[in-house]
Amino acid sequence: MSSYYIRLYQDTDYHIVRGIFARGIKEHIGVAFRHTLSLPQIWIPSLVMTWLPLLITGSLLTSILAVTTISGIVWFINRRIFTTYIDFSLKDDMLDIQKYYLQSQDRCFWVAESDGEIVGTVAAAPLKQTDGEKQMELKRLSVPRRHRKKGIATVLCKTVIDFARRRGYKAVVLDTSMYQISSWNLYEKIGFRRTHYCHADDYWAKYIDFIDVYYRYDIQD
Ligand SMILES: CC(C)(COP(=O)(O)OP(=O)(O)OC[C@H]1O[C@@H](n2cnc3c(N)ncnc32)[C@H](O)[C@@H]1OP(=O)(O)O)[C@@H](O)C(=O)NCCC(=O)NCCS
Repeated sequence: MSSYYIRLYQDTDYHIVRGIFARGIKEHIGVAFRHTLSLPQIWIPSLVMTWLPLLITGSLLTSILAVTTISGIVWFINRRIFTTYIDFSLKDDMLDIQKYYLQSQDRCFWVAESDGEIVGTVAAAPLKQTDGEKQMELKRLSVPRRHRKKGIATVLCKTVIDFARRRGYKAVVLDTSMYQISSWNLYEKIGFRRTHYCHADDYWAKYIDFIDVYYRYDIQD
């Protein structure tokens, strides 16, 4: 890849940007699925449901069917959590990106471009705060697979930090999930610190122990 540069989002980027966002989130379904299978509240009933038919009926086929069904349900639950989030986001701030991010002084959306191709996205928006401190939220960070590990996300994060600093914000905050380990490394390398964890609200997300991880970057005066 030749060098890339950061520019403001344009309406012609719309479908590509939404696609990069959705694919970046969907790729965590596999990790989440494997993690879920290792949880006692999942594997203990699964084990019972697998062995019981074999002991009662002696039918291996029934056991195989039971394993397949349970795995399918677990996969479906995981997939649903991620796709619900994607659908919500695509109908929320990602529905009219130009209007939401570029018609307000304290919001912004950038893309990284290389040879006419979009190779990264990031957004910034003020967090609704009650305690008075001005916090900027870093959102929609995503780099397509084949452009990763080249420092693009680092530059995009720093773009948000500079934007927040110039507008007088005291911190940049963000949340990610327990499955996005690569993003943890990224944020910590830049200087973000982990502040807290929180269980997701959704019933099924709670059942499979889905945890959101929160980060904060303090902006020095
Ligand atoms: C997380 C993501 C944005 C990183 O993009 P990137 O351009 O590859 O990141 P960078 O090249 O700037 O990497 C900077 C640091 O992040 C960490 N990192 C990046 N990818 C990593 C990986 N796959 N595994 C472990 N650490 C990783 C490393 O510490 C890396 O520094 P190094 O290259 O010196 O080791 C990208 O993997 C992605 O888009 N993932 C899917 C969407 C997503 O999870 N977005 C985050 C939303 S919270």
